[in-house]
Amino acid sequence: MTRGAAAGSSDEDAYDASPFVPAGADLDALRDAAAGCHGCPLHRDASQTVFGAGDVSARVLLVGEQPGDQEDRKGHPFVGPAGGVLDRALAEAGISSGETYVTNAVKHFKFEAAARGKRRIHKAPSLREISACKPWLVEELRSVGPEVVVALGASAGKALLGSGFRVNRDRGVPVPVPLPAGDGVLVATIHPSAVLRGDDAGRAELYGGLVADLRVVGRLLG
Ligand code: URA
Ligand code: SF4
Repeated sequence: MTRGAAAGSSDEDAYDASPFVPAGADLDALRDAAAGCHGCPLHRDASQTVFGAGDVSARVLLVGEQPGDQEDRKGHPFVGPAGGVLDRALAEAGISSGETYVTNAVKHFKFEAAARGKRRIHKAPSLREISACKPWLVEELRSVGPEVVVALGASAGKALLGSGFRVNRDRGVPVPVPLPAGDGVLVATIHPSAVLRGDDAGRAELYGGLVADLRVVGRLLG
Protein backbone atom coordinates (compact mmCIF):
# COMPACT_ATOMS: atom_id res chain seq x y z
CA MET A 1 0.00 0.00 0.00
CA THR A 2 1.36 3.44 -0.88
CA ARG A 3 1.24 5.88 1.95
CA GLY A 4 2.13 9.53 2.27
CA ALA A 5 2.62 9.97 -1.46
CA ALA A 6 -0.08 12.48 -2.32
CA ALA A 7 0.10 15.98 -0.91
CA GLY A 8 -1.97 16.29 2.23
CA SER A 9 -2.19 12.57 2.82
CA SER A 10 -1.25 11.03 6.14
CA ASP A 11 -0.67 7.62 7.68
CA GLU A 12 -4.37 7.45 8.38
CA ASP A 13 -5.29 7.43 4.70
CA ALA A 14 -3.99 3.87 4.60
CA TYR A 15 -6.38 2.55 7.25
CA ASP A 16 -3.80 0.06 8.44
CA ALA A 17 -2.40 -0.49 11.91
CA SER A 18 0.45 -2.72 10.74
CA PRO A 19 3.13 0.00 10.47
CA PHE A 20 2.62 0.53 14.22
CA VAL A 21 2.83 -3.14 15.21
CA PRO A 22 6.28 -4.21 16.48
CA ALA A 23 7.42 -7.55 15.09
CA GLY A 24 7.51 -10.48 17.50
CA ALA A 25 6.61 -8.38 20.53
CA ASP A 26 5.04 -9.70 23.71
CA LEU A 27 1.68 -8.44 24.97
CA ASP A 28 3.12 -5.67 27.14
CA ALA A 29 5.18 -4.31 24.26
CA LEU A 30 2.18 -4.60 21.94
CA ARG A 31 0.01 -2.70 24.42
CA ASP A 32 2.63 0.06 24.67
CA ALA A 33 2.89 0.32 20.90
CA ALA A 34 -0.88 0.31 20.42
CA ALA A 35 -1.10 3.37 22.66
CA GLY A 36 0.52 5.31 19.81
CA CYS A 37 -1.44 3.78 16.93
CA HIS A 38 -2.58 6.19 14.22
CA GLY A 39 -3.62 3.41 11.87
CA CYS A 40 -7.03 4.96 11.24
CA PRO A 41 -8.76 8.22 12.16
CA LEU A 42 -10.50 6.83 15.26
CA HIS A 43 -7.61 7.74 17.58
CA ARG A 44 -8.27 11.43 16.98
CA ASP A 45 -11.46 11.81 18.99
CA ALA A 46 -11.08 8.96 21.48
CA SER A 47 -9.30 9.42 24.83
CA GLN A 48 -6.93 6.47 24.54
CA THR A 49 -6.28 3.09 22.99
CA VAL A 50 -8.07 0.32 24.86
CA PHE A 51 -5.99 -2.82 24.42
CA GLY A 52 -7.04 -6.30 25.52
CA ALA A 53 -6.67 -7.48 29.10
CA GLY A 54 -6.74 -10.68 31.10
CA ASP A 55 -4.89 -13.98 31.34
CA VAL A 56 -1.93 -13.81 28.93
CA SER A 57 -2.15 -17.56 28.28
CA ALA A 58 -5.94 -17.85 28.41
CA ARG A 59 -7.68 -20.82 26.80
CA VAL A 60 -10.54 -18.51 25.82
CA LEU A 61 -10.12 -15.18 24.06
CA LEU A 62 -13.25 -13.05 23.76
CA VAL A 63 -13.57 -10.34 21.14
CA GLY A 64 -16.04 -7.46 21.47
CA GLU A 65 -16.69 -4.63 19.09
CA GLN A 66 -14.93 -1.53 20.40
CA PRO A 67 -14.50 0.25 23.73
CA GLY A 68 -17.55 2.07 25.03
CA ASP A 69 -17.73 5.34 26.91
CA GLN A 70 -16.44 3.97 30.21
CA GLU A 71 -13.76 1.82 28.61
CA ASP A 72 -12.54 4.91 26.75
CA ARG A 73 -12.25 6.81 30.03
CA LYS A 74 -10.66 3.98 32.03
CA GLY A 75 -8.49 2.39 29.35
CA HIS A 76 -9.67 -1.19 29.97
CA PRO A 77 -12.07 -3.36 27.95
CA PHE A 78 -15.52 -4.36 29.21
CA VAL A 79 -15.53 -2.34 32.42
CA GLY A 80 -18.91 -0.67 31.73
CA PRO A 81 -22.48 -2.01 31.65
CA ALA A 82 -21.82 -4.49 28.82
CA GLY A 83 -18.89 -5.84 30.82
CA GLY A 84 -21.19 -6.44 33.77
CA VAL A 85 -23.49 -8.53 31.59
CA LEU A 86 -20.57 -10.43 30.13
CA ASP A 87 -19.04 -11.24 33.53
CA ARG A 88 -22.37 -12.51 34.81
CA ALA A 89 -22.99 -14.64 31.72
CA LEU A 90 -19.48 -16.12 31.79
CA ALA A 91 -19.87 -17.07 35.45
CA GLU A 92 -23.25 -18.64 34.75
CA ALA A 93 -21.73 -20.66 31.89
CA GLY A 94 -19.02 -21.91 34.25
CA ILE A 95 -16.18 -19.95 32.67
CA SER A 96 -14.00 -18.17 35.21
CA SER A 97 -13.13 -14.63 34.14
CA GLY A 98 -9.64 -15.24 35.52
CA GLU A 99 -9.15 -17.75 32.69
CA THR A 100 -10.10 -15.43 29.86
CA TYR A 101 -8.54 -12.68 27.81
CA VAL A 102 -10.91 -9.99 26.55
CA THR A 103 -10.33 -7.54 23.76
CA ASN A 104 -12.12 -5.70 20.97
CA ALA A 105 -12.11 -5.78 17.17
CA VAL A 106 -11.41 -2.04 17.21
CA LYS A 107 -9.24 -0.44 19.90
CA HIS A 108 -10.57 3.13 19.89
CA PHE A 109 -14.04 4.33 20.90
CA LYS A 110 -16.11 5.57 17.96
CA PHE A 111 -18.93 7.89 18.88
CA GLU A 112 -21.27 10.43 17.45
CA ALA A 113 -19.94 13.98 17.55
CA ALA A 114 -22.36 14.92 20.31
CA ALA A 115 -23.63 18.41 19.85
CA ARG A 116 -26.15 17.56 22.54
CA GLY A 117 -24.52 17.73 25.92
CA LYS A 118 -21.84 15.49 27.30
CA ARG A 119 -23.23 12.07 26.49
CA ARG A 120 -21.27 10.38 23.75
CA ILE A 121 -23.30 8.02 21.59
CA HIS A 122 -21.63 4.82 20.42
CA LYS A 123 -21.36 4.39 16.66
CA ALA A 124 -20.63 1.03 15.05
CA PRO A 125 -17.20 0.80 13.44
CA SER A 126 -17.03 0.40 9.65
CA LEU A 127 -15.56 -2.64 7.92
CA ARG A 128 -12.66 -0.39 6.93
CA GLU A 129 -11.93 0.47 10.55
CA ILE A 130 -12.32 -3.16 11.64
CA SER A 131 -9.87 -4.24 8.99
CA ALA A 132 -7.43 -1.39 9.81
CA CYS A 133 -7.32 -2.48 13.44
CA LYS A 134 -7.08 -6.21 12.77
CA PRO A 135 -3.26 -6.43 12.98
CA TRP A 136 -3.54 -5.79 16.74
CA LEU A 137 -6.11 -8.56 17.12
CA VAL A 138 -3.94 -10.95 15.11
CA GLU A 139 -1.01 -10.23 17.43
CA GLU A 140 -3.17 -10.77 20.51
CA LEU A 141 -4.32 -14.12 19.10
CA ARG A 142 -0.72 -15.07 18.33
CA SER A 143 0.56 -14.05 21.72
CA VAL A 144 -2.22 -15.49 23.89
CA GLY A 145 -2.70 -18.60 21.74
CA PRO A 146 -6.25 -19.48 22.88
CA GLU A 147 -8.01 -22.76 22.08
CA VAL A 148 -11.39 -21.08 21.73
CA VAL A 149 -12.17 -17.63 20.35
CA VAL A 150 -15.54 -16.06 21.15
CA ALA A 151 -16.91 -13.44 18.78
CA LEU A 152 -19.26 -11.16 20.68
CA GLY A 153 -21.57 -9.69 18.07
CA ALA A 154 -21.42 -8.78 14.41
CA SER A 155 -18.32 -6.60 14.36
CA ALA A 156 -16.18 -9.24 16.07
CA GLY A 157 -17.61 -11.92 13.77
CA LYS A 158 -16.76 -9.86 10.72
CA ALA A 159 -13.25 -9.19 12.03
CA LEU A 160 -12.64 -12.90 12.56
CA LEU A 161 -14.68 -14.59 9.81
CA GLY A 162 -15.15 -11.92 7.16
CA SER A 163 -17.91 -9.59 6.04
CA GLY A 164 -20.31 -12.45 5.25
CA PHE A 165 -20.70 -13.23 8.95
CA ARG A 166 -24.27 -12.96 10.30
CA VAL A 167 -24.63 -13.25 14.04
CA ASN A 168 -28.14 -14.71 14.16
CA ARG A 169 -27.31 -17.32 11.55
CA ASP A 170 -23.83 -18.22 12.80
CA ARG A 171 -24.08 -18.04 16.59
CA GLY A 172 -23.70 -20.91 19.03
CA VAL A 173 -22.08 -23.31 16.57
CA PRO A 174 -18.38 -24.09 16.99
CA VAL A 175 -16.42 -23.63 13.77
CA PRO A 176 -12.78 -24.65 13.28
CA VAL A 177 -10.61 -21.63 12.45
CA PRO A 178 -6.97 -21.20 11.59
CA LEU A 179 -5.41 -18.95 14.24
CA PRO A 180 -1.98 -17.28 14.21
CA ALA A 181 -0.79 -19.66 16.94
CA GLY A 182 -2.35 -22.82 15.44
CA ASP A 183 -5.80 -24.22 14.78
CA GLY A 184 -8.62 -23.25 17.10
CA VAL A 185 -12.38 -23.16 17.39
CA LEU A 186 -14.58 -20.11 17.14
CA VAL A 187 -17.97 -19.66 18.77
CA ALA A 188 -20.02 -16.57 17.99
CA THR A 189 -22.76 -15.09 20.09
CA ILE A 190 -24.61 -11.81 20.50
CA HIS A 191 -22.93 -8.74 21.88
CA PRO A 192 -23.64 -8.40 25.63
CA SER A 193 -24.80 -4.81 25.10
CA ALA A 194 -27.69 -6.20 23.03
CA VAL A 195 -29.01 -7.67 26.28
CA LEU A 196 -29.26 -4.17 27.71
CA ARG A 197 -31.62 -3.02 24.98
CA GLY A 198 -35.30 -3.88 24.91
CA ASP A 199 -37.86 -4.58 27.62
CA ASP A 200 -37.49 -6.94 30.58
CA ALA A 201 -38.82 -10.01 28.75
CA GLY A 202 -36.58 -9.32 25.76
CA ARG A 203 -33.60 -8.90 28.01
CA ALA A 204 -34.19 -12.20 29.78
CA GLU A 205 -34.42 -14.03 26.48
CA LEU A 206 -31.34 -12.36 25.03
CA TYR A 207 -29.38 -13.02 28.20
CA GLY A 208 -30.46 -16.67 28.19
CA GLY A 209 -29.23 -17.00 24.61
CA LEU A 210 -25.89 -15.44 25.50
CA VAL A 211 -25.43 -17.87 28.39
CA ALA A 212 -26.45 -20.84 26.19
CA ASP A 213 -23.83 -19.91 23.58
CA LEU A 214 -21.19 -19.48 26.29
CA ARG A 215 -22.08 -22.92 27.65
CA VAL A 216 -21.06 -24.27 24.24
CA VAL A 217 -17.66 -22.68 24.91
CA GLY A 218 -17.60 -24.22 28.39
CA ARG A 219 -18.21 -27.67 26.92
CA LEU A 220 -15.41 -27.24 24.41
CA LEU A 221 -13.05 -26.52 27.29
CA GLY A 222 -14.18 -29.72 29.01
N1 URA B 1 -18.51 -3.10 24.23
C1 URA B 1 -17.50 -3.71 23.60
O1 URA B 1 -17.64 -4.28 22.53
N2 URA B 1 -16.32 -3.70 24.17
C2 URA B 1 -16.07 -3.10 25.32
O2 URA B 1 -14.94 -3.14 25.76
C3 URA B 1 -17.15 -2.47 25.96
C4 URA B 1 -18.36 -2.48 25.40
FE1 SF4 C 1 -5.13 2.13 15.44
FE2 SF4 C 1 -7.22 0.54 15.79
FE3 SF4 C 1 -7.13 2.89 17.01
FE4 SF4 C 1 -7.56 2.78 14.41
S1 SF4 C 1 -8.91 2.00 16.01
S2 SF4 C 1 -6.09 4.16 15.45
S3 SF4 C 1 -6.25 1.04 13.81
S4 SF4 C 1 -5.74 1.17 17.37
